[in-house]
Amino acid sequence: MHHFEYHHGELRCEGVEIRDIARQVGTPFYLYSQATLTRHYTVFDGAFAALPHLTAFAVKACSNIAILSLLGRLGAGADIVSGGELFRVLRAGIPGERIVFSGVGKTEPEVAAALRAGIRMFSVESGPELTMINRVAGELGLRAPVALRVNPDVDPQTHPYISTGLKENKFGFPVKGVEEVFLKAAAMPHIRVIGVHQHIGSQITQIPPFVEAVERAAELIRSLRAAGLAIECLDIGGGIGIPYEDTQPPSPEQLAEAVVPILASLGVHIITEPGRVIAGNAGVFVTRVLRTKEHTDKNFLVVDGAMNDLMRPSLYNAYHKIIPVREPLDSQGVLRKDILADVVGPICESGDFLARNRTLPRPEEGELLAVMSAGAYGFSMSSTYNSRPRVPEVLVDGTTVHVIRTRETYEDLVAREVIPWQ
Ligand code: LLP
Repeated sequence: MHHFEYHHGELRCEGVEIRDIARQVGTPFYLYSQATLTRHYTVFDGAFAALPHLTAFAVKACSNIAILSLLGRLGAGADIVSGGELFRVLRAGIPGERIVFSGVGKTEPEVAAALRAGIRMFSVESGPELTMINRVAGELGLRAPVALRVNPDVDPQTHPYISTGLKENKFGFPVKGVEEVFLKAAAMPHIRVIGVHQHIGSQITQIPPFVEAVERAAELIRSLRAAGLAIECLDIGGGIGIPYEDTQPPSPEQLAEAVVPILASLGVHIITEPGRVIAGNAGVFVTRVLRTKEHTDKNFLVVDGAMNDLMRPSLYNAYHKIIPVREPLDSQGVLRKDILADVVGPICESGDFLARNRTLPRPEEGELLAVMSAGAYGFSMSSTYNSRPRVPEVLVDGTTVHVIRTRETYEDLVAREVIPWQ
């Protein structure tokens, strides 16, 4: 469910024609719908209403501070993985008690900053990290609230780069032997063990892996309690998929229906960390067709957006629907002729594509295309490769257009570079 629809032949974001925004900010750009973000957050959070819980948005999915502020005002917390993300969420006004911090490579300054901000908890991924957090907390005269991230060895059946809960992945402690680590952690003077964390992967399109992981966590919590530990919270991570193509992943309600009964009997506070399901379909990437190259065996639509702006197709061979901003009907209501083409950007690599072997209504030069479902891991993964300034981000609320990040300039590109002999 999202708010990008044709109206009188023009694709709109809520009440605004996308072509008008393109006129205002140029192309390419990212465009988000506030109503869609709000609805996705509300539906997800509401699905877990039966339990005491916190919905901590996974900041890495979409980290613009306006979007973090919007979600924060709706009551969201934040799942962060770096000092930079901590800085962003604090700037966006999300209070410390709603922040959880995971990741295998936290540094001492990052841990110290998070402790000073009074975060809800660290999700600890290894023994050496636990020792480091204990030391840093001691130096600050504090006790660090921690959950241990457990790797349940469950196959989430997703792309190998984004599965995280298998024993060959770098994340968390293996379940076997983890009880001993919990007991050790509980004995550390500057650590307060409060929970269990797990996150098995991303773009998961089936329920059973979630159920299996939650069942394992429940079992673990019972045995930790039997060993005398007061486990008060369970963070079940994020990972629920979205319909990029025609597959229909489970809804947040279906996920909740399957796991809430297992969780309810535990009497713990639940934390969830959704990213993609909140932001993915709330954003599109708008790009302009520069020209069409028709070769004997192959056609290319060359657009002004590229892999540096939207990396997912190149990196994961990910599919994003691409639709014309002007409805593909002519004035008689007849569908325009299709073209079979690769949609490619200006970057000097054959891996630079937004779509391969795609059939879409033949666009004219200068026409706008919307790359759908680009709100998560779109802008946040973008770079300036090929010295292409990062694109603007725009948020629409009804008929109001907010530019929430302006286009970078060429000056921005070199602003931190120094020629030593000048
Ligand atoms: N929690 C943790 C600890 C995570 O590592 C992640 C994502 C999430 C929550 C949020 O997962 P989500 O609900 O968004 O699936 N760049 C990749 C996705 C990488 C996900 C990394 N971790 C992509 O574009 O598909």
